[in-house]
Amino acid sequence: MILEGIVTTQSAVGEINIAPMGPRVDADMTRFLLRPFNTSTTYRNLREHGEGVLHVTDDTLLLARAALGRLDPLPPLIPARSVRGWVLPGACRCYEFRVLSIDDRTERVSIEVEVVDSQTFRDFFGFNRAKHAVVEAAILATRVHLLPRAEIDAEFAKLAMIVQKTAGEQERQAFEFLRTQVGLLRESEGPIRIRTASRLHFGLLSLPGCDHGSPQRMFGGIGMMVDQPSVEVLVHKSERFTAEGPLADRAAQFAERCAASLGLSQAVHVQVVHAPPDHVGLGVGTQLGLAVARGIAELTGQKPDAVSLAKHVGRGLRSAIGVHGFDGGGFLVEGGKLAESDISPLVGRWDFPDDWRVLLILPKHLTGAHGLHELGAFADLQRQSALPLATDAMSRLILLAMIPALLERNLNVFSDALYEYNRKAGEMFRDAQGGIYADPWITHAVETLRDLGVRGVGQSSWGPAVFAIVHQTDAEPLAAQLAERVEHREIIVARGCNQGAIVARP
Ligand SMILES: Cc1cc2nc3c(=O)[nH]c(=O)nc-3n(C[C@H](O)[C@H](O)[C@H](O)COP(=O)(O)O)c2cc1C
Repeated sequence: MILEGIVTTQSAVGEINIAPMGPRVDADMTRFLLRPFNTSTTYRNLREHGEGVLHVTDDTLLLARAALGRLDPLPPLIPARSVRGWVLPGACRCYEFRVLSIDDRTERVSIEVEVVDSQTFRDFFGFNRAKHAVVEAAILATRVHLLPRAEIDAEFAKLAMIVQKTAGEQERQAFEFLRTQVGLLRESEGPIRIRTASRLHFGLLSLPGCDHGSPQRMFGGIGMMVDQPSVEVLVHKSERFTAEGPLADRAAQFAERCAASLGLSQAVHVQVVHAPPDHVGLGVGTQLGLAVARGIAELTGQKPDAVSLAKHVGRGLRSAIGVHGFDGGGFLVEGGKLAESDISPLVGRWDFPDDWRVLLILPKHLTGAHGLHELGAFADLQRQSALPLATDAMSRLILLAMIPALLERNLNVFSDALYEYNRKAGEMFRDAQGGIYADPWITHAVETLRDLGVRGVGQSSWGPAVFAIVHQTDAEPLAAQLAERVEHREIIVARGCNQGAIVARP
């Protein structure tokens, strides 16, 4: 059976720790099994100094206070008789023990101990429902970060009735202390805010079904993160999966999918504070999915990287530029993947120069290809035989032109190579798109920018977002000139974003 008690331990340098623990015991109490979490001080101390003392007590106030952190001041303590440790003389009885073995392969550690001495100080008070209610409430209070709010509130309401009917002064105080602490813990456990950048995709490098020799990698390509427009969400613990704000339905679907994939019973409410429209070539779906997943992971104390998060929300199926960009921003090159279910590894990441800007031109009336249309475009591609040659030429543009130009801050060389790369990528989809670009509006925007002397211009992903790489001094004048010549559009002057998503508690 499990006996709920209080364990005192000390660290290698003699700091005393007092924590409620429920060891597995037999009636004869010659040995027992402690099960502390690997994050607990009790576990750390017993690893450093394998001796301690288990106390049986009816002092519910001490138990409640010890459950929620360091006791200050410490209760009365006397040195143990047979181990280097400390005894609580206010307890009913105590068992001094020595560690026999520690198995810490799992989160919940198993520590087998042998009892080397025991003492009895006073009688146990006896059964009292309020004392048991405080023990239950103390356990709940140590799990606030793991359990849904509604479950804790419902349990506390039931326990409060028992305390009200059967408590003495000590139990009343203990219960009030726990109720207040749970409230405070909650406040510090407010929502998680995640802000992430947008992704530009400059074109896929290689496609399924093309013979590039072996091993054949699919997709791959280049892209970058821009600081605007950003995706920002607040993820709150909640009883049901709900969402509000732009793209709310997608956010709620991502949340539900992610929680199921992580095996969590915790539901969340997602407040989408900002999100650009979906399917415009800015990779918004991936950024939103990853932001929601990251919020859920943070709320439940997990820190998976973006690649793991992407798997939990089903993103990164073709290109993984947005996934890697969520982690670290920058100008990114990925080399494609071998199997459908993989996420392409990141080949390289470079900071985008601080004094370059990206003009983004977004039409108000178009959205890009996605879903079935996108898959249809891939099917068409598989029939084309010129693709391996395009892949070769594009690889050369990346390695011999764009990356060195980026490192040397040579805007013209970088821009020329990017323009050519993007056209070659578009050429592969000519049949599906009806041209190098996906819409006559995009062709018009690209040609206008080229007329204005901008060299690094193209379509991001399936469009319709058009990008132009310019020097910071030219950005605003060019935006103004463009505004006069291209209609029905929004123009954004963005910077490269050289950092990953920002995660904070507001
Ligand atoms: C009655 C009771 C029994 C508990 N049993 C355990 C346990 O067996 N293992 C554990 O890791 N935490 C247990 N806890 C929670 C710990 O006491 C709590 O997390 C404490 O903050 C961890 O202590 P430490 O980090 O000071 O060692 C229990 C709490 C209560 C109120």
